[in-house]
Amino acid sequence: MKNYLWLVALGMCAGCLHAETGREAWLRYAPLKDSARAQYDTLPASIVLLGDSAVLSSARAEMIRGIRGMLGRTLRIEKGVPGESAIILGTMESIKAAVPALALPEIAQDGFFIASVEFGGLCHFIIASPNDRGALYGAFALLGKIAREESIAGIHEVQQPYAPVRWVNQWDNLNGTIERGYGGPSIFFDNDTVRADLARVGEYGRLLASLGIHGCTVNNVNANPRVIQDDFLPQLARIADAFRPWGVQLAVSVDLSSPQKTGGLDTFDPADPRVSAWWRGRVEAIYRHIPDFGGFTVKADSEGRLGPSSYGRTPADAANMLARALRPHGGILFYRAFVYDHHLDWRNPKNDRARAAYDIFHPLDGKFDDNVIVQAKHGPIDFQAREPVSPIFGGLRRTNIAVELPVMQEYTGQQKHVCFLMPSWKEILGFDLQADGPGTPVKDILAGKSFHRPMGGYVGVVNVGTDADWLGHPMGMANLYGFGRLAWNPDLAAETIANDWIRMTFGSDPAVAQTIASILLTSWRTYESYTGPLGAQTLTDILGSHFGPGVEASERNGWGQWHRADEKGIGMDRTVATGTGFTGQYAPAVARIYESLETTPDNLVLFFHHVPYTHRLRSGKSVIQHIYDSHYEGAERAEDYVAQWESMKGRIDPPLYESILARLEFQAGHARVWRDAICNWFHKMSQIPDASGRVGNYADRVEAEGMVLRGYTPLEITPWENSSGGKGIECRLPEGCTASFGFDRAAGWYDMDVEYFDQNNGESRFRVFVGDQLVDEWVALNRLPAQKPGGDSSTRRRIKGLGLRPGDRIRIEGIPDGEETAALDFVSIKRK
Ligand code: GCU
Repeated sequence: MKNYLWLVALGMCAGCLHAETGREAWLRYAPLKDSARAQYDTLPASIVLLGDSAVLSSARAEMIRGIRGMLGRTLRIEKGVPGESAIILGTMESIKAAVPALALPEIAQDGFFIASVEFGGLCHFIIASPNDRGALYGAFALLGKIAREESIAGIHEVQQPYAPVRWVNQWDNLNGTIERGYGGPSIFFDNDTVRADLARVGEYGRLLASLGIHGCTVNNVNANPRVIQDDFLPQLARIADAFRPWGVQLAVSVDLSSPQKTGGLDTFDPADPRVSAWWRGRVEAIYRHIPDFGGFTVKADSEGRLGPSSYGRTPADAANMLARALRPHGGILFYRAFVYDHHLDWRNPKNDRARAAYDIFHPLDGKFDDNVIVQAKHGPIDFQAREPVSPIFGGLRRTNIAVELPVMQEYTGQQKHVCFLMPSWKEILGFDLQADGPGTPVKDILAGKSFHRPMGGYVGVVNVGTDADWLGHPMGMANLYGFGRLAWNPDLAAETIANDWIRMTFGSDPAVAQTIASILLTSWRTYESYTGPLGAQTLTDILGSHFGPGVEASERNGWGQWHRADEKGIGMDRTVATGTGFTGQYAPAVARIYESLETTPDNLVLFFHHVPYTHRLRSGKSVIQHIYDSHYEGAERAEDYVAQWESMKGRIDPPLYESILARLEFQAGHARVWRDAICNWFHKMSQIPDASGRVGNYADRVEAEGMVLRGYTPLEITPWENSSGGKGIECRLPEGCTASFGFDRAAGWYDMDVEYFDQNNGESRFRVFVGDQLVDEWVALNRLPAQKPGGDSSTRRRIKGLGLRPGDRIRIEGIPDGEETAALDFVSIKRK
């Protein structure tokens, strides 16, 4: 019997030769099942590379690696077109030279042609592109088809990127930390130097190339001037070397004040010839070390970064000065439109941060050089779960523009919550700004098609780290994958992207595919519904981590992320008629929709209008009831993700299954924290009860501060709404403390949730007893962005299936560690 069970266990994970860590992401090349493999039997046995470069060699190596992994065959390397069927890989030019009779289609740079063709009486597979990079992309595309078990019989396919620029940004600091990075320290830097071992950089380059991404700015936009100093350049060159075989160009973010900070000048005025000469010198030095250097990214006059405004100059003055230094070498200058005053007077109802990008950049349209790209966040504020499309995309007709998208989920759960952003990005890219009447969707503006621009496209802020799974959550990688796929082809459906990613990451089990797709595709709206409602923005603690709830953090300060909630109502009046005039930045057809309360879609109503809580939405619900309902529904859906995932047990490699389960459980618990914080805050503020009677009523809870405490002491939590009852308890005794209470409900099976605070400055231990029996123990070592008990650290431990009897005594022991005080919020006991 024992042996039999062992076999069953093995069978459950057939095909898993090693534990999955997520490191290979969607490029696992796992062996196909025999039945699926058979359709590729006609694939040639040899491969010929025509052309000679590191990128082309990568393409050939990738083909060999992929075919070996998935089909168990090792392609034979041939030097010239052999007298047998072959995979012929190379540039159009070299293929034409070798096989002049072959008709090849016209293709744009980076595009490729994959076809099975016949010549000399033999059937060959061609992968051809105008450039080396495109051939690599073609190799990845063919391997992707095999990984997804798609037919390649008689294939004849041309693929070309929709937009010419497809880059990523990393916000890595030279000391190895990453601003808004949630997947561990930097793969590039450590201790103010470039890491000795850059293996992960090569792997990252490979992942990027597999998506057609061809540039990466590696350091924080809040740039350290040291990055372009002489001693650093040979180090940067090593990063460029690691990227080069994958066709990924290296770029860096620069500090505009560098000439003054490190260059020995007394100015950084972009109009000063000494300043432009200094930059030219720097650029020349960079290109001596890195001949294919990509360019610079600039954040200036923003959030404390110095910029051209110090000298009364414009972003165009600064951008062009740098662009002219880069131009002779083919470099690009990305100038970020994230320029705003973070000391706005919040008392002035006409002030509006949302206006900033358009107000500053629109008057400069046509003034930027051709190798400048203005890089704008998708919305007018900052990566919120829901914002309208930034009007800047319709406001620059004679300027190259790229959209900046947050792969790293800064405001959407930071890879602790699943939040697959493709449905959101699809809405943005498909949004018709109607710049010249209907027909200017954002995707066409970015591609340069709408206004006939030579350049433009996509920049994803990714922030991978050294974690094995890159982003800290295996599901987070779906956003990087999706970003690349959409940047290549914004017409792909979110469903297609999700399904492709799942097939390549988790294999072909249809039940797994269906479950993960259902989680992914609903996850953005789920996240939105338990965080910020109706376009009021994320309602997170904008002054801190941007992770947990913090309703008031955005108010009464200069940062301008205001939602203006008070006793009577909520929302920013951004109309032309009575508000900040922001709606007037859109073309008239779009402005009309947002200007009127009647036509503004519910999901953005609070972004554009200030309304009473009793205002009836187009859905028929009042604003306040919508807030309550959406938070309860969202938290329930997050709970349901756990159940859905649990039904996958045995179908997914166990360590991967467990790690995702732990994250989904955290998410469900944290969604509850969000739900209660937001609902209780608005309940208190509006004094309007929840029609369903849920808000404020928690019959199953025992508050920690109401338990019998030994050593533990009560603790006020701020803001109050981030804990149950505004209070918790903490333990400051090294030997530990206990909190206990009697169970007085009917005998039966129960699930018990212990809500505790898991900070990142200690690893407290908890033990839970029923009577004398230890029923659970754990260490609080989740990596959360929190140094104190509150909405960022509040975490749920679920102890399932406890048989409890009236009179049972439940005792929790907490042992603090470091700065973490084994703090507790409440216990909730629910019947199974
Ligand atoms: C956000 C983020 C910052 C970042 C900034 C930017 O405000 O929180 O960490 O520097 O965006 O995009 O420049």
